[in-house]
Amino acid sequence: MSKFRSADWFGTKDKMGFLYRSWMKNQGMPEDMFDGRPVIGICNTYSELTPCNAHLRDISESVKRGVLEAGGFPVEFPIMSLGETLLKPTAMLFRNLASMDAEESIRGNPIDGVVLLTGCDKTTPSTLMGAASVDLPTLVVQGGPMLNGKFRGEDIGSGTALWKFNDKLKTGEMTYDEFAEAESCQSRSPGHCMTMGTASTMAVMVESLGMSLSGMAAIPAVDARKKRIAQLSGRRIVDMVKEDLRISKILTREAFENAIKINAAVGGSTNFVIHLTAIAGRVGIDLNIDDFDNLGSKMPLLLNLMPSGKFLMEDFYYAGGLPAIIKQIQSELHMDVITVTGKSHAENIANSGTIYNSDVIYTFDEPLIPEAGTTVLKGNLALNGCVIKPSAATPALMQHTGRAVVFENIEDYHARVDDPLLDIDETCVMVLKTVGPVGYPGMPEVGNMPLPKKLLDKGITDMVRISDGRMSGTAFGTVILHVSPESAIGGNLGLVENGDMITLDVAKKLIQLEVSDEELEARRKVWQAPPAMAERGYVKMYIDTVQQADKGADLEFLVGCSGSKVTRDSH
Ligand code: FES
Repeated sequence: MSKFRSADWFGTKDKMGFLYRSWMKNQGMPEDMFDGRPVIGICNTYSELTPCNAHLRDISESVKRGVLEAGGFPVEFPIMSLGETLLKPTAMLFRNLASMDAEESIRGNPIDGVVLLTGCDKTTPSTLMGAASVDLPTLVVQGGPMLNGKFRGEDIGSGTALWKFNDKLKTGEMTYDEFAEAESCQSRSPGHCMTMGTASTMAVMVESLGMSLSGMAAIPAVDARKKRIAQLSGRRIVDMVKEDLRISKILTREAFENAIKINAAVGGSTNFVIHLTAIAGRVGIDLNIDDFDNLGSKMPLLLNLMPSGKFLMEDFYYAGGLPAIIKQIQSELHMDVITVTGKSHAENIANSGTIYNSDVIYTFDEPLIPEAGTTVLKGNLALNGCVIKPSAATPALMQHTGRAVVFENIEDYHARVDDPLLDIDETCVMVLKTVGPVGYPGMPEVGNMPLPKKLLDKGITDMVRISDGRMSGTAFGTVILHVSPESAIGGNLGLVENGDMITLDVAKKLIQLEVSDEELEARRKVWQAPPAMAERGYVKMYIDTVQQADKGADLEFLVGCSGSKVTRDSH
């Protein structure tokens, strides 16, 4: 008799056992697949509408091969796939929905362990959140980044190049024909964005947490070694089931602290803050937004990748990959925490971690930037905090006071930003409201508002921008994000008026609206919330229950873990 949970389905000699096995046999599975061996779910976020994950069927075959080799029974299943580029109004709106899909698909099926096949930004946190709420042995296989973009002799990075080319198109420095040519040159292989955008950040996050095999994060999607490590992951998950190495044994407080420090060292996306907080909430770890500042802001930047630096993920892999970063900052990390290998980080990198290209990976003693992690700012404009990524910002703007130019929502921004009569100069602070979790809804990546055309024409490349939204991990600039509480629920951001002065002081971790408390109270009395954007369906449930950015923007009732027991076990 099998000791695994799948035996509740396949291990009985009665009507129900017949039912569970017989229908599976229509796929041609022989009798011995039901002999009590571990059943491994392969949770696949493949979709042709998620181009970054479109190769995951191929990767899945390698995982299956590994599972079979180790004596397991692989069963692949699809879940909602969140493609960053196509899905409207924003993939983030559906991260929590996809997490519910993953959670219930894992719990409700005869699965003993699960491999999460992910890639594009939200496909990683959504599946990890769902799996964490079930707490089975779990391992992540990231699809890997695209090969470097190549355009007219230059390496160009996903997203990062687009933001730059878009500005050049606006100012006439680039023709439309050149712009169109770059489109094909940027994305030239399977895989996710190859800058240190959110997908790469998530790949680094899972390896930092100990949730993937060591060295996986940077392997390009089309490199044969990606399939090799996928196959090894398939073998390993079978052993994890036998060892009962559940996700809760790996996702400890120390693992989250490691992830925060490593994220700082690689210049990871600001989206990391929201996703890591949400994952921590699922396993009962109380990660506070201040933890990101306390643990990360003093960490040095070692990795020279766009958008903070020059190179791309392919270069990162050839330069030594994440083990090289971990080795450099090991004195700052909890190196003895257990990972999916059953071993510690220290053991995992015992025979790796060499830097092969010191232009790409810097050392802890001589970093690219001495203090570069995400900084948390507070003040009357963000009582519960907001974030800035100093490594992607302009040093001269890190201490700045400027006049607010307010856009009430994204439509207002688009309608007026390029109006030659807009009263704005480069010393102003651009303020965008109603792009938070509730207000938009879904907290889109619009915080890095492109600058007004008339300022681009003057050669201005950066300004202070502030919003309750997010920005793409591939983006850059002096951009203050995730303001909490958000404007749509009555946060002070919603009370900012044109002409108010705003002070940013990153060294003092301050974001302050230079308006008296009395004046703010007077404005609050006449303030009106923007109309709700949905009256039914998932979006209504999302608006009613989503938490603020500093809490990870998970739905209130999804926080926590219900375990793997199904609610009713008989028909
Ligand atoms: Fe999918 Fe960037 S759009 S990873």
